[in-house]
Amino acid sequence: MATINDNYLKLKAGYLFPEIARRVNAFAQANPDAKIIRLGIGDVTEPLPEACRQAMIQAVEDMGNRSTFKGYGPEQGYDWLRSKIATHDFQSRGCEIDAAEIFVSDGSKCDTGNILDIFGDNNTIAVTDPVYPVYVDTNVMAGHTGDASDKGEYEGLVYLPITAENNFTAQIPSQKVDLIYLCFPNNPTGATATKEYLKAWVDYAKANGSIIFFDAAYEAYITDPSLPHSIYEIEGAKDCTIEFRSFSKNAGFTGTRCALTVVPQNLTAKAADGADVELWKLWNRRQSTKFNGVSYIVQRGAEAVYSPAGQAQVKELVSFYLENARIIREQLTAAGLQVYGGVNAPYVWVKTPHALSSWDFFDKLLHQVNVVGTPGSGFGASGEGYFRISAFNSRENVEVAMQRITEKFKV
Ligand code: MLT
Repeated sequence: MATINDNYLKLKAGYLFPEIARRVNAFAQANPDAKIIRLGIGDVTEPLPEACRQAMIQAVEDMGNRSTFKGYGPEQGYDWLRSKIATHDFQSRGCEIDAAEIFVSDGSKCDTGNILDIFGDNNTIAVTDPVYPVYVDTNVMAGHTGDASDKGEYEGLVYLPITAENNFTAQIPSQKVDLIYLCFPNNPTGATATKEYLKAWVDYAKANGSIIFFDAAYEAYITDPSLPHSIYEIEGAKDCTIEFRSFSKNAGFTGTRCALTVVPQNLTAKAADGADVELWKLWNRRQSTKFNGVSYIVQRGAEAVYSPAGQAQVKELVSFYLENARIIREQLTAAGLQVYGGVNAPYVWVKTPHALSSWDFFDKLLHQVNVVGTPGSGFGASGEGYFRISAFNSRENVEVAMQRITEKFKV
């Protein structure tokens, strides 16, 4: 008799965003005339940059000629893309990251989950609370946790609360943890990390033999020049960190799919016999076995992000969403709501008015003003009483949504 991975039975309800989509679809079916505005999932709405589109059109033509046709590409990504990433995203900021340390993939969501394949089952794992749910759910699926409590916290995980009191930056734990997930600019709170703060984490990780998983998917939204874009800007980070990056939120590739993971070649963790093993080799082995690379066409599109035209167009796209974030922040603040984030990030983290629970506020917004956001409690117990509003939408939709919310929910 076939059996299942019982760990899946420990997972709470559906994955957050499909669960929201399910509720919204049910409402839309019952109210076909409602003009629903979706500021829930952080999915881009604006067209791809012209430079990326042209590069992909050319790549399609390449595929139509025997002399330029491509079959399987390298599982790690084409060298021409990896070297551009290394130069533009890392070396230009003083990070000694080599092209060989870049693994091109089809998404940071996949990579932050898949990375667990190369780690043991007995690591102590720390996540912030609230947190991007993928980090937690993939650990549950891998059997790294016990059951969830009534609060929704999984036994065995170390939760580091991030709240207004600590500026949404977790305190460095006093206990030893082996794997730590950090995300800056932060999803969901929009908080940022200074170099000094990240240095404290790097020092902690080096002292404890821990590995930091650093999710920098939103680095393009950093407007404050003093803030680091990569954790490798911090001395010593190459000895303890794997960084995840994405083309989804800078170049609008959520549907096109391209991302990258940096695994430094010197980075090691322990085998059962106590030997130091290079994580690069394991990840390379994992990717070569389970992944056949991102399509040539998409990689050409990603490469175009680094052309002068691509850089200018991506900057414009990011500025567009940041302007949406400014409108959201300012209008909600003017209506008396308490808001955080949205300055160096595309997410605005809102304290729910009148002490409503996160899901109650979600339902009120959906039913009364037909606006969708994301309940803070969906990101963890400490997100209760908060609500995330995404700046990824058209200007018109953001303006109409803010008008509807502020008229109804003035505090
Ligand atoms: C979000 O809304 O948190 C993002 O869309 C998640 C993602 O990029 O997978």
